[in-house]
Amino acid sequence: MDATRKADRRGFLKAAGVAALLGETALAQGPVNSTGKKIRVGHIGCGNVARNAYVKAMLKSPFIEVVSTCDIIPSRASDLAKRFNIPANFDHIDKQLKGPEFDLLVNTTSMPSHFAVNRAALEAGKHVWSEKPMALEVSDAQKLVDLARRKNLRLWGAPTCVISPQFKFMAQTMASGKLGKIYSGHAAYGHEGNLWSPWFFEKGGGSLYDLGVYNVTTLTGLLGPATSVVGMYGVSKPVRTVKPHDGPPQDVKVTADDNTMLIMEHDNAVYSQVQTGYTYFSGVDDKDASRTDYTMDFAGAEGVMHLAGYDWGPHGVDIAYKGHRKLERFCTEVENYTWEGGPGYVAECMVTGKTSLMTPEHALHVLEVMNACFESQRTGRRVKIESKFPWPIIKT
Ligand SMILES: NC(=O)c1ccc[n+]([C@@H]2O[C@H](COP(=O)([O-])OP(=O)(O)OC[C@H]3O[C@@H](n4cnc5c(N)ncnc54)[C@H](O)[C@@H]3O)[C@@H](O)[C@H]2O)c1
Repeated sequence: MDATRKADRRGFLKAAGVAALLGETALAQGPVNSTGKKIRVGHIGCGNVARNAYVKAMLKSPFIEVVSTCDIIPSRASDLAKRFNIPANFDHIDKQLKGPEFDLLVNTTSMPSHFAVNRAALEAGKHVWSEKPMALEVSDAQKLVDLARRKNLRLWGAPTCVISPQFKFMAQTMASGKLGKIYSGHAAYGHEGNLWSPWFFEKGGGSLYDLGVYNVTTLTGLLGPATSVVGMYGVSKPVRTVKPHDGPPQDVKVTADDNTMLIMEHDNAVYSQVQTGYTYFSGVDDKDASRTDYTMDFAGAEGVMHLAGYDWGPHGVDIAYKGHRKLERFCTEVENYTWEGGPGYVAECMVTGKTSLMTPEHALHVLEVMNACFESQRTGRRVKIESKFPWPIIKT
């Protein structure tokens, strides 16, 4: 977003050597122990997502035992620990790392804290699951990937959309050739803004990192790595009033994107687009803000495909193609995937040796694409993307 980003990204990628980013040296997978024991989790960042989604999801997982919580606001860590019977709580990661032994740090802190927290955990020999983005700068994300590789640790960055049955179905449908060559993808995800924490509206937050990130992950996951990006963003409302659940309301000067358009080039003449913002009326449909209408569309030479519901909460996939021109719905299962199930999924991979469809190289690529959008807005230019990730994700 700032003027240093371009130099930072290019310079570092060059210095890092492109091979590491091409997926040739993808981070290790496979089981982390042969005992079949549960993965012990230290959870840091006890805000909205921890309270309302993550801990409940982790406690349902047969592969996870949560041993500690941590938040720089101590009452949040202790409240969460008390509510869910988690044995220990801390107000600083250094104390948490010295507390009850754990295998995996689950990081749901605010975005500007992600890099430092992830790095501290990896340095202490912990595997890491990070909420998105794993760092704000591509160079920092690359440092995390390198650190994990050096220490033979696992590292993952949300979001989880590539593990949904609908993602698999869409990837397989595209690979089958039924729709012909896919030339374009469109996606949109927005709401009225997260009004519980100020950092969402400040530099290091914003609607692209928070919401558009899902669509960038799904589109690159299906259409392949982006090769260049054009983008625009703006601030639609200069001031937002934020109401934390445990503090007084406050007015925040908005310095992050809250209305954003991003266009990606993938393969030759294959383009996709993400529209996102904190500018969307989100009262449509039902109580959990989930949608059942289309949020993603793909047009191929011989068919079309639409995703019903968001890619983080999909309801089904509609397709029509030559010889079957009426749209038909497939893949309506909603039970086997939840967006907050990431730690349970990676814990399963760590215990059983199942190969994870999510990779840190993909999360790094998505970060480079998002930062390129900001650079494009700043410079008025199309921005080349240099990182790659292991693709296709679904092997057919
Ligand atoms: N809230 C959601 O519905 C939701 C959904 C999906 C993903 N996420 C992602 O989860 C992350 C957290 O979102 P949130 O809505 O819970 O934010 P939040 O502001 O409610 O909570 C973040 C918490 O992290 C704590 N924190 C910040 N820096 C810390 C540090 N260095 N050490 C320990 N604690 C620290 C804060 O005190 C706060 O309690 C973000 O990356 C967000 O994009 C949130």
